This record gives sequence, structure tokens and C-alpha cells, in this order.
Amino acid sequence: MEKTFIMVKPDGVQRGLIGEIISRFEKKGFQMVGGKLMTIPRELAEQHYTEHKERPFFGELVQFITSGPVFAMVWAGDGVIATARQMMGKTKPADADPGTIRGDFGITVGKNIVHGSDSPESAEREIALFFKDEEQVDYKKLV
Ligand code: CMP
Repeated sequence: MEKTFIMVKPDGVQRGLIGEIISRFEKKGFQMVGGKLMTIPRELAEQHYTEHKERPFFGELVQFITSGPVFAMVWAGDGVIATARQMMGKTKPADADPGTIRGDFGITVGKNIVHGSDSPESAEREIALFFKDEEQVDYKKLV
């Protein structure tokens, strides 16, 4: 089953949007197979955002994502990587369509509520950074 990494960022957590975001993915039909509230250590933030390390906003990005608790999740389902990206909307909330998470709740590109893996390679890498195998459930074993 395809899996992706989704994270409610510190702005989304502080604004009380964890439940709203989980609800959207649940209603769509995806299954949460891992989830935890955590404050990201600097080193993990730098690893997570390593592809942006040469960008001028890298320092700001790491500072923000470590500034308060995030809710990190693994979601599973057919096509979940691409569909989650559609449900989140464009990175810049001003360009994100109404009906998407960022279109409905965000304003600025830095504080854009939620992160989601952008490819199968990113999903695998990001899930492994944040979750051990035993922190992910297998629903087949529960029924
Ligand atoms: P995210 O999906 O978490 O992946 C990289 C993040 O970089 C992106 O969401 C934005 O929040 C952030 N980002 C992109 N462009 C800028 C920018 N110009 N200034 C600050 N943050 C940015």
C-alpha cells in the first residue's frame, strides 16, 4: 500500500487545525498508520529539509519548523502521495485553490499549515526519518 508523510506544522497545531486536517484525510478514505505530537530537534529538521539547504530561506524554515510542536503522520492508500498534495493545495497559500487545506487556512508561504511528501522517494525518506517500523500499524492485523 502506498504511504506518504504528512505533518501539521507549528502554525497548524497552534491554530487547532490537527483535527480538521486528520478529518479531511479520513473522510477521503485514507488510513493513518502512524501519528505523533513532537517538537522537532534541529538536526532532524535540517535532514528533513536538506534539499532546501542552499535556499536563502533555509535558516528561517528550520527555525520555524522547530519553533513549536508539530503533528507528524504516515497516511496510507492508493495514490495517497499525489492526492494528499492536491488536498493540501499549492505551497504558496495565496495561490492555493479554495477547498484545499492551504487555500482554506493559510496566508503565507512560510506558515503554510501542512507539509506533505512530493514524490515516492521523498515519502520513503521522510517516513524513515520520523517513524520507526514499529511506530506504524498494520490494519490487516487488527481485523
Ligand atoms: P514544505 O512543503 O514544508 O516544503 C518546503 C517549505 O519551504 C515549504 O513547504 C514552505 O513552507 C517553505 N518555503 C518555500 N518558499 C519559502 C520562502 N520564500 N520563504 C520561507 N519559506 C518558504
